Amino acid sequence: MTVRVGVIGAGWIGKEHIRRLTHTVTGARVTAVTDIDAARAAEAAEPVGARVLPDGAAVVAADDVDAVLVTSWGPTHAEHVLNALAAGKPVFCEKPLATTAEDCLRIVEAETAHGRRLVQVGFMRRYDLGYRQMKKVIDSGRIGEPLIVHCAHRNPTVPESYTSQMAALDTAVHEVDVLRWLLDDEIVSTQVVTPRATSKRFEHLKDPQIMLFETAKGVRIDLEVFVNCRYGYDIQCEAVGEEGLVRLPDPAAVGVRTAGQHSTEVLTDWVGRFAEAFDIEFREWIAGVAAGDEPTGPSAWDGYAATVITSATVEALESGRVVATDLKPRPVLYGGAA
Ligand SMILES: NC(=O)c1ccc[n+]([C@@H]2O[C@H](COP(=O)([O-])OP(=O)(O)OC[C@H]3O[C@@H](n4cnc5c(N)ncnc54)[C@H](O)[C@@H]3O)[C@@H](O)[C@H]2O)c1
Repeated sequence: MTVRVGVIGAGWIGKEHIRRLTHTVTGARVTAVTDIDAARAAEAAEPVGARVLPDGAAVVAADDVDAVLVTSWGPTHAEHVLNALAAGKPVFCEKPLATTAEDCLRIVEAETAHGRRLVQVGFMRRYDLGYRQMKKVIDSGRIGEPLIVHCAHRNPTVPESYTSQMAALDTAVHEVDVLRWLLDDEIVSTQVVTPRATSKRFEHLKDPQIMLFETAKGVRIDLEVFVNCRYGYDIQCEAVGEEGLVRLPDPAAVGVRTAGQHSTEVLTDWVGRFAEAFDIEFREWIAGVAAGDEPTGPSAWDGYAATVITSATVEALESGRVVATDLKPRPVLYGGAA
């Protein structure tokens, strides 16, 4: 079966996923596209032979749309995801699931009432082969119970429009999701420490930031977010357990020896770093939809948790205090007891 996908939002990542669904993933075809900028929708739809529809509701309702992909701006996600749930169609929503905890909960409640998972959230790091290897090691018990995790998320630079709050909401959100998954544990509190700021930044920005998370089992996580590190895009993660440690591998790169030096390249953007993870994420999502299975990737609950935890981290940054994350009880649909 070919899964016919309708896309809401034809901006940067919408176009990237349309290309991926058309040329990289087998068993999928983009049949409908919408964007509030109609010219942009047409530009994305025409090369793949898709129709342009007037809005998100029309995409969800279309007879030739089996599954919905939401790649519009974050504050619009909830409306489109709720429409897809009401229509009983599988929906892949780029992160964030929604920008407020209340909207995320509305989605969780609608999906719970539906009784079956339809929503997947676009946290692609769970599909990165290095993180998958780390998870296998942690789950096997080889390093014993995890006690501490050290992480770094470094970007070479960011545009002037980037704010201090975005360090949690847009950048650390990926670590928040992947760490909850790696540790199979919940983040219960968050704190932000701001060291001396780099002078290589826009004046309004607090950069770098050190985020300190605590999990329900008592694991302590330190995450350095440094978005003007200059030298490259660098993602580091090391989990220390009772019997050993496991470290995220750096992307494969040849070693070069010349002029009395040994060097290996450091990537400079996240697109190359996670391109393969995005491909695997979409292959698995489409295969699941084609088989009529519930999605196995990040759930609406994970989207809710990420929004609550990153919003609490913004509060921690602004107040200087340790902030409890205060999540609701996890419903049975997402593996909880309540
Ligand atoms: N997983 C990742 O690593 C990753 C990477 C980049 C972006 N994203 C997420 O993807 C989403 C889009 O990001 P982007 O970089 O492509 O932004 P973008 O601004 O390039 O594109 C967003 C598009 O959505 C359109 N749009 C906005 N509201 C709409 C609506 N109600 N209906 C239809 N179209 C609408 C805009 O006109 C624009 O073309 C964001 O939520 C972002 O956080 C995730």
